[in-house]
Amino acid sequence: MSTPEHDRLLIIDFGSQVTQLIARRLRELNVYCEIHPYQNVTDAFLTEFAPKAIIFSGGPDSVMREGSPRPPKKAYEMGVPILGICYGQQVMMQDLGGKVEAGEHATAEFGRAYVTPSETRSDLLSGWFMDGSGREQVWMSHGDHVSEIAPGFDVLGTSPGAPFAITADTERRFYAVQFHPEVHHTPNGKTLYQNFVQLAGFSGDWTMGAYREEAIRKIKEQVGDKPVICALSGGVDSSVAAALLHDAIGDQLTCVFVDHGLLRLNEAEEVVSMFRDHMNLKVIHAQEQELFLGELDGVSDPETKRKIIGRLFIDVFQKYANEIDGAEFLAQGTLYPDVIESVSFSGGPSVTIKSHHNVGGLPEKMGLKLVEPLRELFKDEVRALGRELGLPDSFIGRHPFPGPGLAIRCPGEITREKLDILRKADAVYIDQIRKHGLYDEIWQAFVAILPVRTVGVMGDGRTYDYACALRAVTSVDGMTADYYPFEHDFLGETATRIINEVKGINRVTYDITSKPPGTIEWE
Ligand code: XMP
Repeated sequence: MSTPEHDRLLIIDFGSQVTQLIARRLRELNVYCEIHPYQNVTDAFLTEFAPKAIIFSGGPDSVMREGSPRPPKKAYEMGVPILGICYGQQVMMQDLGGKVEAGEHATAEFGRAYVTPSETRSDLLSGWFMDGSGREQVWMSHGDHVSEIAPGFDVLGTSPGAPFAITADTERRFYAVQFHPEVHHTPNGKTLYQNFVQLAGFSGDWTMGAYREEAIRKIKEQVGDKPVICALSGGVDSSVAAALLHDAIGDQLTCVFVDHGLLRLNEAEEVVSMFRDHMNLKVIHAQEQELFLGELDGVSDPETKRKIIGRLFIDVFQKYANEIDGAEFLAQGTLYPDVIESVSFSGGPSVTIKSHHNVGGLPEKMGLKLVEPLRELFKDEVRALGRELGLPDSFIGRHPFPGPGLAIRCPGEITREKLDILRKADAVYIDQIRKHGLYDEIWQAFVAILPVRTVGVMGDGRTYDYACALRAVTSVDGMTADYYPFEHDFLGETATRIINEVKGINRVTYDITSKPPGTIEWE
């Protein structure tokens, strides 16, 4: 456990799918917090952790079930403020002498609900109910509900299905809400957290700089003096992970950058030179273009392409990693959204990781332990950490780039000729987007080269060249996306530049498909 350099808030996790979002809201408020599964929170743990406040998360169980998860009694006896959320509210009420009843149709609430204030006021709700509507939208997700509040508590707010939607024992500073203030659909939820941490006396001393220190300490603790290898893709996540690891363990880290010949214009050189020459990381530049392009020769089925690339990637990575004596750890830039976390109520906490397209299966196959220093972070936090680590802004703000690279932007057979054309067209397109100041508004933009030739006329001559498609989307997480509404002038200018500057393309189209039904990549 970490040393208490900061005011610390403890989140006791009862297994809600959104517990991590509580941590996120708190971090936005510069509050240091840790999430611990309820099974691990013993009296001794509480004494050592010495929280300044505690939050009970939601959870899937029912407090009426014998043996359902509980916090230790000591939590209530430490004299620190507690906020119970959903299941956490029900636990608190039952533990302190209130009643909870099983859900019936009339009282179960799932989704959007509206809370109105009661007569009793509390600083917990400063800034709430201010927009003139007299109510606040909240996100409910409960079957059971509190039917009688514990002695000492007042009701601060009600919703149609939750007469005790917001409750407080102001004297003990115990607060409990039936809804989830941490989710996006409780628009004013952050204010509630802000009020809670203010009531608890947090100074807001937790910053990305502090996170970095903490992460470095944890990495050192985990890997000791053992060598660590890292698959550096040049993407933001693996780059930030590598920079952080290097900060923590210096030359114990070796990065392997696999060049599969499917990268963008000058990309390999830029990535390798930045990490090797400017940041002094040990980087192996695995030049395996021949291998990848050779095996992809004549292949046009998208899934076959992906499988070939995935398999070769593992082989190649393994080959280079085997040369590193005594490597015991593999570092990955897994982010929180890649982690599906659940608490198993019979055993300890269990974590399932969505396998990354490129390195999935690698750790088991190679008998390596994982180091995932970014797994608590969201994308924008990773970017903030990257800045903190001194990575250039232009690098940190880069659009995502898929592991299989240009292979999935080249429908049909992949040839070196097509890849060259695609690289040049893509570079012009991105240059245009940057020049017009649009890069940061767009989640991802790229060119796909189409497997058709079309007839054109240039000067007095006939051309018979490839058509390409421009793609640009906005998105929050890549799961859904809208096409970007470029001005026609921009599209016209870009098409002209591509056709004039890139030999081999004589027709440019713009892809206006959203996701769903399309996907962002073409394959
Ligand atoms: P799709 O095309 O499924 O893409 O809408 C969603 C996001 O994921 C990226 N993507 C990948 N990233 N390996 C990766 O590392 C892959 O195999 C892969 N396939 C898609 C895609 O670029 C977009 O950001």
